[in-house]
Parts: sequence; C-alpha cells; structure tokens
Amino acid sequence: MFGLFKRRPKTPGVARLEPLGVDVTVPVNQSVLQAALEAGVDFPHSCKVGTCMACRSRLVEGKVKAIRDFSYVLSAEELKAGYILACQAKLAPGDRIVLEVDIDSQRPHFPQLTCDGRITAQTALTHDIVELRVAVDQPLQYAAGQYATLRPAHIERAREYSFAAAPTPGGDNELRFFIRKTPGGQFTGWLFEQSRVGETLELTGPGGDFWLRAAEAPLVFVAGGSGLAPVLSVLEDAARAGVARDAVFLFGARTQQDLYQVDAIEAIAGRWAAQFRFVPVLSHEPADSDWTGARGLVTDYLAAPHVPDLAASHAYLCGPPPMIDAALAVLAAAGVADGHVHYDKFLDASNLAGRRCVAVVSAARHAAIHGIGSAGAVATFRAGEKQH
Ligand code: FES
Repeated sequence: MFGLFKRRPKTPGVARLEPLGVDVTVPVNQSVLQAALEAGVDFPHSCKVGTCMACRSRLVEGKVKAIRDFSYVLSAEELKAGYILACQAKLAPGDRIVLEVDIDSQRPHFPQLTCDGRITAQTALTHDIVELRVAVDQPLQYAAGQYATLRPAHIERAREYSFAAAPTPGGDNELRFFIRKTPGGQFTGWLFEQSRVGETLELTGPGGDFWLRAAEAPLVFVAGGSGLAPVLSVLEDAARAGVARDAVFLFGARTQQDLYQVDAIEAIAGRWAAQFRFVPVLSHEPADSDWTGARGLVTDYLAAPHVPDLAASHAYLCGPPPMIDAALAVLAAAGVADGHVHYDKFLDASNLAGRRCVAVVSAARHAAIHGIGSAGAVATFRAGEKQH
C-alpha cells in the first residue's frame, strides 16, 4: 500500500551547450557542470565550488537556480550580461536552458578518464612532501599544469593533485605527483603512515585550468611547497617545446631542508631557450646558516630587479592560499594586465575546516578580482582553487 505513495523521480532538465551544439540532461540534484562532465563534455572548470570562474558561461535562454549566489565572484556587469557559474547552477524539473560556454580557443581538450591506478613508488622529497608514482591501466593524456583526483578505495573523499611531470604525447601510463602531508588530511594521514607501494586507488582526470597560454610576454612563476608540481610540469613541457620567453621562477620554502627538485629546475634553466632566472627564497632559514641566497617571503621578490618587467609579464602562481593572495595583491598593484594571471590555489584539510577559511579565501579573491584594496586596479583572473 505504501508503494502507492512512492515519490516519482523528478523529470531532469536539459541544458543546450553552445557553441558545442550538445544537449545535456541535468538531474535535479546535480549542477549543470556536474551533469556536463558526467556526460563526457569537456566543460571548462577547475574548483567546482564557485570560486575560480573557470566554468563561467552565459545564459542565453531559460532560468537556473543558484546553489551559491553568483554575485560572490561575478561582477554586476557580468550578471547583467547573463553570466552564471555552471558549477553553482541547477535546473528546476523539466526546465530547458541554452548556455553559451566560454571556451578559450587555446584550451587543451583531453578525454576525462576514470581508471584503476597502482602506487609504484613513494619517495620522500622533504620531511613532509613525497613523490608518488601511480601506474594506470590505460594511458592518460593531460596538459602540463593540470591535475587528477586520487581516491584509495577505503577513503571517502577524493583529493586533487597536480601532475608533477611534463606529459608524454599520446598519454602516460605512469603519473607523478608531489603530495604534502596536511594536518587532519585523511588521504595524507593514510599515505604518510607507511609505504603504500603496491596499493591501488581510483584516478580521475585530467582537470583544471592551469596551463601555459601561448604568448610572447615574459613569464613569472611563483610556487610554494607542493605547488612546485604543476609549475615543474609546465616548465619541463615548455623547455621541451623550445618556448623562447624570458622567465623568472620564484620558489618559496621555509628552510634549505624544504627545497627539493632543485637539480631538475636547474636542468630546465640550462636548456631554456631564452633567459631563465631561478630564485629560491627561504622564509625561516636560521640567520646563522650557510645560506647565501634570498630570504623572506617569496612574494617580496615579485619586483625589479628579480622580475625585470613585472607589469608586462604573464604570471603563473601555485601554492598555499596566503602566498597566492599576497602575490595577487602585488600583481594587481603592479598593473599586471587583465587575464595575464593564472593561479592554482592549494586548499588542504586545514583550510577547509568548517569552511570558514574557504569563505575568507574567496572574499580575498573577490577583492583581488574587483580591485578592492589594490590601488584601484580592476583585474580579472583566470584561476583555480584546488582542494588538496
Ligand atoms: S569550476 Fe565553477 S567557479 Fe570554479
């Protein structure tokens, strides 16, 4: 008898994606982005939580329900023009919309795969960062700078980690990641307990909007901690491709013990097709140590003479939220042009606790996007925030 009152599943909505010319069925409990990705559409995205704007698209027809208010990151002009965030948009049952997807013509397109992986090597790089090598059961293609999500079977929440090596054309059967131990992190707690070589996990990728845009402008890279992974991947790939743009790489660490992959960076510098300047910066190195290099905050070096022409540079930033926020403020104040700043902000379990820090981070980014507190500059950043 009770079966008579069973709820019928709600009719899904449909999103027409232009200029792709694709219709995507959107179940009522999914965002437009989630439905598009599950349908195999290579929809631009990065954070999936409404902060990076990578999924920004224009609603041409119909209505959406905002999971989180779009005005948190979109400007009044963008809202007026009909822009929404696909990761924060749901459809009412049976609704139909037409969405114009903001596709960067340079954006790399690779099929997103979910495959079985097996850990083949786990090597300590510093006291709190390991290199993990994962063999996968089918070749995975990605763009340098992108990431994959990793999830061992017994761990509920998948974690996103950037590929730490340049991709091989045609796909890689073994993938490298740099993983930092994070306080309270379920995945890294498990990983750092003992060697996990031989263990299996599920790997999904690629994802992310952090990749090198073709241009002539000089480059400045800033990385901190395990944020080195995507930068190293981009640098290796660019060096291999013969990219001939002057580049400065500022690498922030606490002490000499926290520096790693220096030989690999110097090897890239040696074969870079233009000027390449590598500046490791230590923030907590004892004053009486033998270190003769740069000291202080890595973002203090985002200026001449270390970065000769900052205003004309294209910037790529990867690392913890305070480093990224500080760098965004410096770049905005220096007048770095709209669209020339790309970042991947590594959020970990400690940043996500109670979500309070996420809101603070987002607010800081909102300030950077709209030029609040940054010498009146108005800049729009293509960016990503990744939950590590
Ligand atoms: S993927 Fe939607 S805002 Fe980042």
